[in-house]
Amino acid sequence: MIEVNDLTVRFGGVTSLDGMTVSFDAGTCGLIGPNGAGKTTFFNVLSGFVRPASGTVRAFGDNLLSIVHFRRARWGVRRTFQTEQAIEQLSVFQNVALIHEHSGLSRASRRADVLDAISFVGLRCDPQASVATLSAGDRRLVEVARAVVGKPKLVLLDEPAAGLPDSETEHMGEVIRQIPEQTGALTILVDHDMSLVSACCSTTAVLDFGKLIASGPTAQVLRDEHVIRAYLGTAEV
Ligand SMILES: Nc1ncnc2c1ncn2[C@@H]1O[C@H](COP(=O)(O)OP(=O)(O)OP(=O)(O)O)[C@@H](O)[C@H]1O
Ligand SMILES: [Mg+2]
Repeated sequence: MIEVNDLTVRFGGVTSLDGMTVSFDAGTCGLIGPNGAGKTTFFNVLSGFVRPASGTVRAFGDNLLSIVHFRRARWGVRRTFQTEQAIEQLSVFQNVALIHEHSGLSRASRRADVLDAISFVGLRCDPQASVATLSAGDRRLVEVARAVVGKPKLVLLDEPAAGLPDSETEHMGEVIRQIPEQTGALTILVDHDMSLVSACCSTTAVLDFGKLIASGPTAQVLRDEHVIRAYLGTAEV
């Protein structure tokens, strides 16, 4: 469980998170909101790239913000980024193994763990294939494999299906839904695709201008008139 209390992030005159208070309980939880709402900033706080002006984050009883950023991977924070991060010159295996090296787990099981992660996301290519030879969808799956390898406690997915065709988005959704069961990690999914969020997340939180405007069962949140007004724009979406 992640408990966020009164979290505020400022960049000069911009308040990107404004007293965000919310909890993410278990399974795969959604985090949505319009462009610039603060979703990626929130992930940056959890993964240690951004230091908040104030507020606390307790993750499974630990004070997450007191853990120095380079130890958070070892603690169990994993994430994907909005921009592609898989390294094209390396193989699929090497890309995933690189992340696993920071997990603090024993070397003995590393090879098997990496292969497990690659197979879990449904990549059918040769693990030795260079990432440069993969399709956009498969490169996204490599990034998810990097986020689930080892023993993550918290998996943060920042628009993992952006730009993918429907069939690949559907597969991505199936993978995301299985992450908590497969790894035991609490998973937070940021996406603008409401069908993907609905398919994957039983609960969803909504940010607008850095403030939390709704949180609860996904179907109920998507019907909330504040959410429709702030984010979806029209009543029929
Ligand atoms: N490093 C930074 N320096 C200055 N401003 C920033 C920085 N990071 C984020 N911001 C600002 O904080 C606000 C929130 O940005 P953020 O990227 O968190 O939004 P988002 O919800 O992820 O949006 P999107 O859906 O477009 O990805 C925006 O106004 C953005 O310009
Ligand atoms: Mg973002």
